[in-house]
Amino acid sequence: MTETFRLADAAATFLLSQTSLRPQIGLVLGSGLGAFADQLTESIRIPYAQIPSFPRSTAVGHLGQMVIGKAGDTAVAAMQGRVHLYEGYSVGEVAFPTRVLGRMGIQALILTNAAGGINLAYKQGALVVISDHLNLQGQNPLVGPNDERFGPRFPDMTQAYYKPYRGWAREAADKLGQTIHEGVYAGLLGPSYETPAEIRYLRTMGADLVGMSTIPEVIAARQMGIKILAISCVTNMAAGILDQPLDHQEVLATTTRVQADFVALLRAVLPEIAKDIRERARREG
Ligand code: HPA
Repeated sequence: MTETFRLADAAATFLLSQTSLRPQIGLVLGSGLGAFADQLTESIRIPYAQIPSFPRSTAVGHLGQMVIGKAGDTAVAAMQGRVHLYEGYSVGEVAFPTRVLGRMGIQALILTNAAGGINLAYKQGALVVISDHLNLQGQNPLVGPNDERFGPRFPDMTQAYYKPYRGWAREAADKLGQTIHEGVYAGLLGPSYETPAEIRYLRTMGADLVGMSTIPEVIAARQMGIKILAISCVTNMAAGILDQPLDHQEVLATTTRVQADFVALLRAVLPEIAKDIRERARREG
């Protein structure tokens, strides 16, 4: 862990040396949801392969670069693509980019992902603000000796998904005339999709969504005191709900279809989060 801190610091220093912007908001753009970063101004793009110690993304639909730029007046660091446990990365490697964002000074993290819809009220293409999660990945990035410089041994997870951000996302969607839901995300290891029996079991446990990412990032970010907004795109109804098999092409086709709405929502909610960070800094002097 001591080593992780040093490596995360080195990667953060490297990234900040590439730009004069000092982003306080980070984004992780999931499968097929990277378009937001293409619209940033004053931007620089840094392939993950060039960032010291950074894991490279191998998933289809994930570009694998960090884009630092501005959305309107707000400087952001946006990751186009993430790595997943199912690719064979350790949970420490999966959480490493979050550590780097934290060491860059990020105070808010917006995580996005593609997910299967378990809640029958959802439709394919629906956007869902994550209100809580079920960690069913069998792993946790905080296992091992704790480095207090990242944060406490036993971080609180009662409001992992910051309630005001969830409200602002809802308000932004309302203003844009978009339908938005809130739901509980179940994170599984993958990479096989779930069986219909697993989906029934997840629904019984209170899950509205199922996916294969996000949770290690949330846990690492919460330990560092970073506030989180997470939004899922329901790319497909989960296994067994419709009388058809699941496939990754369908997942990508759905994200392509909702990209524009997704980008509009992110752009609308960012200024609210930026304002909150500014006001908090002023209050804390
Ligand atoms: N299950 C798990 N992960 C997913 C799904 C799914 O149905 N759709 C997109 N990511």
